[in-house]
Amino acid sequence: MVAANRDVVNTCQYHRQTMKIDLRESWFIRDVEIPTRLVLAPMAGVSVQAFRRQGRRFGAGLVCSEMVSCAGIEHRNEKTLGYLRVASDEHPLAIQIFGSEPRTMADAARMVEAAGADLVDINFGCPVRKVTKTGAGATLLDEPARAAAIVEAVANAVDVPVSVKMRRGLRDGSRTCLEVGPQLVDAGAATLTLHPRSAQQMYTGTADHSLTAELVALVDVPVIASGDVTSRAKAQTVLATTAAAAVMVGRGAQGNPWALREIVDGDDAEPTREEVVAELVLFIRETVRELGERRASGFLKKFYGWYLGRGRFPRPFKQELVVLDTTDEVERLLLAAAPGALQLIEQLEAELPGGDEVLLDLPISIYGGG
Ligand SMILES: Cc1cc2nc3c(=O)[nH]c(=O)nc-3n(C[C@H](O)[C@H](O)[C@H](O)COP(=O)(O)O)c2cc1C
Repeated sequence: MVAANRDVVNTCQYHRQTMKIDLRESWFIRDVEIPTRLVLAPMAGVSVQAFRRQGRRFGAGLVCSEMVSCAGIEHRNEKTLGYLRVASDEHPLAIQIFGSEPRTMADAARMVEAAGADLVDINFGCPVRKVTKTGAGATLLDEPARAAAIVEAVANAVDVPVSVKMRRGLRDGSRTCLEVGPQLVDAGAATLTLHPRSAQQMYTGTADHSLTAELVALVDVPVIASGDVTSRAKAQTVLATTAAAAVMVGRGAQGNPWALREIVDGDDAEPTREEVVAELVLFIRETVRELGERRASGFLKKFYGWYLGRGRFPRPFKQELVVLDTTDEVERLLLAAAPGALQLIEQLEAELPGGDEVLLDLPISIYGGG
């Protein structure tokens, strides 16, 4: 068992009696230090840079890009390459790639490393047909030799650690992850994230973290537990009962960065209306900068409900926002509902690196010749 993982296991055993696990404890994926035991999940259509930067501010020790197509990287698709922009304040950051060919995955991993990612994450968990029908995502769990070949090719292509995120298997009740996981570690994976639902389950039922505990016992790399962690109590139970190195939070953080603060620090203060509006306006401004107004205005609509729900604002208010054409109009209405937010936004913007200085150059020129 490697030292880092042994320490995590020992710490967990020590705390198991008290159930008081320190989420602020740092841990390592090879030589990459992760400052807290909370990881922000990769989520397609959600994990833009603004989401990741916000996640880091609220206590996530590691953040992840959404899954990026290695075919899109290979063809230098402009939108795909946009996913490889890394901000100076989001490290440590994993960029996740998906594909089914070892060579193209290795090439994509080189681009990801050159873009500044601290980890290359491989997606063996996506259950969506558009992805699985190409032989990528969760289908690779049924093709362990190919999955291992992908991990090996990627690990040989880059110096940064390689991580793998997977589901329990394809079909309900599957335990495939326990067979495939150790093979992926042998192939070079420096950490595994397990979302213990089957691909067939999509997001129904519950994540069975008894499988996470079994996986932790089988491998000598840190394991990250993903699925249904929405509170500090649940995070501590999952960490204590699985001996995982960290928990990953996805849906619980949508429009709710305060959940991350509660999980890491136990600070369960409800945000004020001003705080909610300030975070949402900041998120809108950053997303417009990242995606451009046209893409951002559609992309952002789902976030209005996520931020303003949970009894924070009356339901019709969200309806008013989603029909507006521009994000400027949305911002005006939000600030009219909570004028005190303006001062908070100014404070936040003064503290954060802003504008272009957070964007690092893409290394396209290095690989432009193919
Ligand atoms: C909208 C959405 C998009 C997702 N996209 C990805 C993805 O791109 N890559 C990935 O590995 N997992 C993806 N996931 C799965 C999450 O990372 C996570 O494993 C899952 O949601 C369970 O965690 P949760 O209960 O905390 O949400 C996605 C989940 C959601 C809800």
